[in-house]
Amino acid sequence: MKKIGVLTSGGDSPGMNAAIRAIVRKGISMNIEVYGIYHGYTGLIEGTIRQLDLGSVGDIIHRGGTILRTSRSDAFKTEEGRQAALAQLRKFGIEGLVVIGGDGSSRGAQKLFELGISTVTIPGTIDNDIPGTEMTLGFDTAVNTVIEAIDKIRDTAASHDRISVIEVMGRHSGNIAVWAGLAGGAESIVIPEVDFNIEEITDKLEETNKRGKKHSTIIVAEGVCSGAKVVEMIKERTGLDTRVTVLGHMQRGGSPSATDRLLGSRWGAKAVELLASGEPVGKMLGLRANRLVANGFDLLHSEKPAVNLELYELSNSISI
Ligand code: F6P
Repeated sequence: MKKIGVLTSGGDSPGMNAAIRAIVRKGISMNIEVYGIYHGYTGLIEGTIRQLDLGSVGDIIHRGGTILRTSRSDAFKTEEGRQAALAQLRKFGIEGLVVIGGDGSSRGAQKLFELGISTVTIPGTIDNDIPGTEMTLGFDTAVNTVIEAIDKIRDTAASHDRISVIEVMGRHSGNIAVWAGLAGGAESIVIPEVDFNIEEITDKLEETNKRGKKHSTIIVAEGVCSGAKVVEMIKERTGLDTRVTVLGHMQRGGSPSATDRLLGSRWGAKAVELLASGEPVGKMLGLRANRLVANGFDLLHSEKPAVNLELYELSNSISI
């Protein structure tokens, strides 16, 4: 294989730049030309494609976001869009592609593979909700960002004797809520994977309040309902002074953690090695027991990514 392309798609995540850097540098070291496709599948359809040299990925390993930009493309979901993308790949002579993104991006990659393009995906999303991997690129940084926010909110909540409800991202997944909730010492965690029981939360609040503990932290995953809604319910049932903080997009930004830089570098280099074999390849990279794995696209449809309920239970049992 002489020419490969790389694109980032869907919500950006910290570590994407480390992956792009590794792809470009590994590719060049193996005499492969690497092309950057800008703005995800939209750029692939429109042909916003440029060759990347060593210097183009200098000074980016520590940066959040993606130097290739990203998008969520509706056009690529159509046959017409995919044929336009295929035509661009042929025009540039690109024989293999690395797609860095979440589950929607991986489904897009599968379509390209079915059209005859060798494609390898890197699971890039803060949500940690891709089948076949224990960890996604950006999740570790996002969890650390949330913990930092929880710590700060706790300082002021403790000073004012308040209940803090913190709404975190994760679309349909409770992973960020569970990991950050446990690590941040939250009293309750509300996630889509477990039935929401407001009485359990308010009973606990009233009990701890009676015991003299006047401030508490409740983490709500956006996939359940808004943090504001939970505040309303708590106030209605307990009358306690309760405030909401929606962390929003700050969870997607920031300098990647060491874990995400390492993962991005390892997956980036591995993707190039797989494509370089010259055989037709359609794989989703992942991590199992700290080893890189390459799964087939069938996993996207057969395995549901699970939230770590052990961590959820542990948090419940020690936040009394
Ligand atoms: O997929 C990552 C993610 O940050 C989700 O956690 C969130 O629900 C979604 O993207 C928000 O997407 P956007 O801000 O791009 O609309």
